Amino acid sequence: MSLQLGRTEFGNTTNKGKVLSREAANALLNEWVLNHRLKLHMRQVAHLMKCWASQEEGLDESGQWRWEMAGLLHDADWDQWPELHCKKIIEELEALEIDPEIIRAIASHGPAHFGVVPETNMEKMLYAFDELSGLIHAYALMRPERYEGMERKGVQKRLKEKSFAANVNRDDIREACSIAGVTLEDLIDFIITKQGTVE
Ligand SMILES: [Fe+2]
Repeated sequence: MSLQLGRTEFGNTTNKGKVLSREAANALLNEWVLNHRLKLHMRQVAHLMKCWASQEEGLDESGQWRWEMAGLLHDADWDQWPELHCKKIIEELEALEIDPEIIRAIASHGPAHFGVVPETNMEKMLYAFDELSGLIHAYALMRPERYEGMERKGVQKRLKEKSFAANVNRDDIREACSIAGVTLEDLIDFIITKQGTVE
């Protein structure tokens, strides 16, 4: 499913710093996303974003929440309105007068699909985490120990196996790493260590 957005600017700069409360973001997620696996995916990506914002960007709690919120809502419209992905969530957040940086991060999480190239670190990392997080979770599900003792080379093997999690686009993962300036190895390690704690 692919919907070019036809624009590269989102939200209004006067809304800078405006976020949803955690309760409001979760309420929106629960109302829009009925599929539990998809909801888990968004919570996993949110957690990765928060950890990265804290650990690698050195952001304070409010900065971390902006990253986390982008992760939490990036696929919010996918479950019920796949033909409007990700136009619908963008327009909703614009109507709610949310910080334009968060909206643009969501708009740029699939450059080939939506036509928006990730520019800020928040945008680049959301793109980088999205697909790889899904593949690593699929791998965890086939291991009895799940994330415990998972090794990078196991993930790399699955990445090479085209039939494994076939809907995960390997080219996107490679492109996202190069845009974000992180190695695939480091990104895999980061996801393995953080993602297993999200239930
Ligand atoms: Fe996603």
